[in-house]
Amino acid sequence: MNYMKLLITGGAGFIGSNFVHYWVKTHPEDEITVLDKLTYAGNLSTLDSIKDKINFVEGDIIDEELVAKVMTGVDCVVHFAAESHVDRSIHDPYVFTRSNALGTHVLLETARRLKISRFHHISTDEVFGDIPLEADWKFNEDSSYKPSSPYSASKAGSDHMVRAYAHTFGLPITISNCSNNFGPYHYPEKFIPRSIIRLLQGENIRLYTPGNQVRDWLHVNDHCRAIDLILQKGKLGETYCVGGLAKGISNIEVAHKLLKIMDLPEDRIELVTDRPGHDVKYDVDWTKINKELGWEPQHTFDEWLEQTVEWYKNNQSWWKPLAEESEQFYQTKGEEVLK
Ligand SMILES: NC(=O)c1ccc[n+]([C@@H]2O[C@H](COP(=O)([O-])OP(=O)(O)OC[C@H]3O[C@@H](n4cnc5c(N)ncnc54)[C@H](O)[C@@H]3O)[C@@H](O)[C@H]2O)c1
Repeated sequence: MNYMKLLITGGAGFIGSNFVHYWVKTHPEDEITVLDKLTYAGNLSTLDSIKDKINFVEGDIIDEELVAKVMTGVDCVVHFAAESHVDRSIHDPYVFTRSNALGTHVLLETARRLKISRFHHISTDEVFGDIPLEADWKFNEDSSYKPSSPYSASKAGSDHMVRAYAHTFGLPITISNCSNNFGPYHYPEKFIPRSIIRLLQGENIRLYTPGNQVRDWLHVNDHCRAIDLILQKGKLGETYCVGGLAKGISNIEVAHKLLKIMDLPEDRIELVTDRPGHDVKYDVDWTKINKELGWEPQHTFDEWLEQTVEWYKNNQSWWKPLAEESEQFYQTKGEEVLK
């Protein structure tokens, strides 16, 4: 299916901006409007090089009047906008319910009234809770919802509302639940960019103790390709799980890989007190999107990680103004180094 007009919410954030860049390049004939509140995580400079090719609207997805205005005439909504940092959801949970649950509801209600042809909702594997470290099963489209942080609970709420709008009102929706993304334009507060940036600044990696938490890492470019395929060929009403090639890699192993890529000694790691309720393991089974839509990740985790380090080395002017705010957040929440 070819879309003429897309509304991309959260397009100034990490994944949303990568998607806007991707779409401008791969579908240059389409018209894109980005709606973004420009919270601490939204950064207009990320869209600088394509600013003449998109319409940017600064605003809140909770603002019904504004949402109706920007959605009028749109064929397809791709919804990324959300508060996305688990640690911040522990310190300030209300803002997560507001933007992630209520904000999604406002978009859905507007999409229903305007008879939008497709509403694609970006969600997370964190809605499924976590997997015991020793277990070998993975999350898939049939996994039950067991969110464990205010972030994942607010995302779970939004997923349920998206399905309710499909079931009750026939809204043509698709959902993707993906694993942890990494790549360019990733806000410095998140584990991989923060570690690279701290090392580039002569500081040590800060790692939640004991460092054995396992994540399933998905490169943001692979994620954008998956969303594209879902929009073109995905079945209405369906959910697709999207994951990466990095299986069973713990955070401490990621830290060691970064040290190796950056040619630094192994002792450049500091353990800090763990986050409350820290999920131990995520692992995503992406068989369905592979079998039905022919998607698979393009490069190995190690290749993408090297490229990501290079990107942060070469784009210091992008992250330098943001790194200070991010470190201040960790100081405010009382990050405590153990050794
Ligand atoms: N980053 C990941 O690893 C990951 C993994 C799975 C799912 N997701 C989901 O993908 C989406 C994008 O995540 P991200 O990492 O790019 O997040 P991000 O925090 O980098 O960016 C979020 C963007 O949304 C905007 N925003 C926040 N609240 C808003 C509001 N009320 N109105 C309008 N704009 C608002 C912010 O300004 C920012 O530009 C989110 O829905 C997130 O839950 C992310």
